[in-house]
Amino acid sequence: MAQEVSMIGVLTSGGDAPGMNAAIRAVVRTALARGKKVKGIQKGYHGLLREEIIDMDKESVSDIIQKGGTVLYTARCMEFLTEEGQKKAAAICKKHGIDGLVVIGGDGSFRGAQKLAHLGINTIGVPGTIDLDIACTDYTIGFDTAVNTAMEAIDKVRDTSTSHERCSIIEVMGRHAGYIALWCGIANGAEEILLPEKYDNDEQKIINHIIMSRKKGKKHYIIVNAEGIGHSASMAKRIEAATGVETRATILGHMQRGGSPTCMDRMYASIMGAYAVDLLCQGKSCRVVAHKDGKFTDFEIDEALAMKKSIDEYQYEISQILSGRKIGE
Ligand code: ADP
Ligand code: F6P
Repeated sequence: MAQEVSMIGVLTSGGDAPGMNAAIRAVVRTALARGKKVKGIQKGYHGLLREEIIDMDKESVSDIIQKGGTVLYTARCMEFLTEEGQKKAAAICKKHGIDGLVVIGGDGSFRGAQKLAHLGINTIGVPGTIDLDIACTDYTIGFDTAVNTAMEAIDKVRDTSTSHERCSIIEVMGRHAGYIALWCGIANGAEEILLPEKYDNDEQKIINHIIMSRKKGKKHYIIVNAEGIGHSASMAKRIEAATGVETRATILGHMQRGGSPTCMDRMYASIMGAYAVDLLCQGKSCRVVAHKDGKFTDFEIDEALAMKKSIDEYQYEISQILSGRKIGE
């Protein structure tokens, strides 16, 4: 078992996510309460390699729990992908007395954390991504705020779509994963939910449904399209040409990553940040905090990265039923 730590560093890495600030606050305050010193590393691994390291105290995380983004900034860093970069980063941690590190980010960031752990820095990952695509955990910080933001935006598009009797394709984020699309698709009552994990590329089927529902007098047709499928603009053109129904594409984009975190994100981020510090205080390293089957827990990073996550079959089946497609066919 690794040594107990005396100074804890915290960084955010990869895409930002609402709730990251709540996690930073929890790391800082829990570490201080446990008698540890804390340093904030700005701009993820990029900032670590440039020694952008600041002292953190109780006040430095005041008034941030309600804020979107990350006060520590975030970045993606190519240099850190190299062995040389990783060795340099570990040496910088040691130079600054950082013997424990909390990395708030996604799978990529955890791969980096694992490398630092192997180089003698005790590291713990905290899942922060709007994509919900980390297999070891049922919850990732930022997802709840992002789906609520997207849901509200889709409701608004639906209003104008109905007024103009249009078809609307709304593209949501998620990289290669369809969780945001699935949740919004269900929550917004979409007629089509296109997920990278499920889509059969049968655009003709969609076209037939639009024509049929138009004949039945339906005023709008909402298609929630996951980023992993993409091509929303060209899809809209093809659908309009084939159905004669005016079709518009809206790509929600980065607005989904911003905004004040929901209560759920603040709560999970707070517990997960604190839990990460407590793992370090127990001398643990190379682990990821997770929420699995209703409980906060942790996994070896290796084990966590080897896990696979897939769209829940029952949820998907119900999404298809609720879209109305399976009724009266
Ligand atoms: P996320 O953490 O959201 O999945 P990325 O995949 O962009 O985001 O990863 C964030 C950063 O983590 C990368 O820019 C890189 O610096 C580091 N990283 C990603 N993959 C690895 C890896 N295999 N080894 C070391 N560092 C990595
Ligand atoms: O991982 C979060 C995420 O917002 C994905 O949903 C999206 O694919 C990606 O990041 C966008 O990254 P960037 O901010 O670099 O455009």
